[in-house]
Amino acid sequence: SPSILRTVAELRERVRTWRCAGERVAVVPTMGALHEGHLSLVEAAKARAERVIVTLFVNPKQFNNASDLAAYPRTEADDAAKLAPLAVDVLFAPAVEEMYGSGFSTTVSVTGVSDGLCGAHRPGHFDGVATVVSKLLLQSEADIACFGEKDFQQLLVVRRLAADLNIPVEIVGCPTVREADRLALSSRNVRLTPEERRVAPAIARILFDSADRLAAGTEAGPVLEQARRELETAGFDRVEYFELRDAETLAPVAKVGSAARLLAAAWLGNTRLIDNVPVLPS
Ligand code: PAJ
Repeated sequence: SPSILRTVAELRERVRTWRCAGERVAVVPTMGALHEGHLSLVEAAKARAERVIVTLFVNPKQFNNASDLAAYPRTEADDAAKLAPLAVDVLFAPAVEEMYGSGFSTTVSVTGVSDGLCGAHRPGHFDGVATVVSKLLLQSEADIACFGEKDFQQLLVVRRLAADLNIPVEIVGCPTVREADRLALSSRNVRLTPEERRVAPAIARILFDSADRLAAGTEAGPVLEQARRELETAGFDRVEYFELRDAETLAPVAKVGSAARLLAAAWLGNTRLIDNVPVLPS
């Protein structure tokens, strides 16, 4: 099983021995409650580097809602057990005080790609993500860092901060892992009631169906309107957004001409689900 390290000093010491031996290092940042989506990132990391670090830190700075933070699943022992067969070298699981010591005062804030979508509905969320990811990349000195397309806007925020801050890391984006009914795997899915779990895959189905129509060149306006109505009819309580954006800049797109992304967030009872799919011009 992986060595569990709690301090930045221990992590740096371990990484130094690997780097001295000429080994490449990949990091997979997570908040734990690991599922097959996370494990697919670990596989992508293993394919690219000799050494793999998984980080487990439920980052208080990125939760804009105290009850969401309190309810976030914490299953470190199970997580370590899931990583054991994958030959992960280190599970870096620092305490909050190790990451944010007294006097901590720095925020990394990415403009542009952080605006709109989740950024508009979760104030401060992407500042929290950008700050903790910057720290994790600098602490681990990784050559490669793997992130899921499940959180597509987050992936673009991370690409931006790594480029802007000259962090010498390659950011690898990995496809979304889905259940058989196409519901995207998420640590928050365990909160769904059995009835909500039956409704949940509608978000993926409506995204894929809408993406087909948009790829064929249909005007976005009416397709997005219809998709919102369909989500509500399917049993979603509130649609936060359902939008077609440029896949690189996240600028709004009215009609697909180049690579685009269709992104949605909607509430099912007390659970907020997000998902997104590619839209390529046909
Ligand atoms: P978390 O939600 O634990 O996700 C960790 C990584 O797993 C992210 O890169 C996320 O996009 C990826 N992931 C989640 N579900 C996935 C799925 N179904 N298929 C593929 N990849 C999936 O995202 C975070 O944590 C945090 O914001 C973090 C980056 C760790 C910073 O705190």
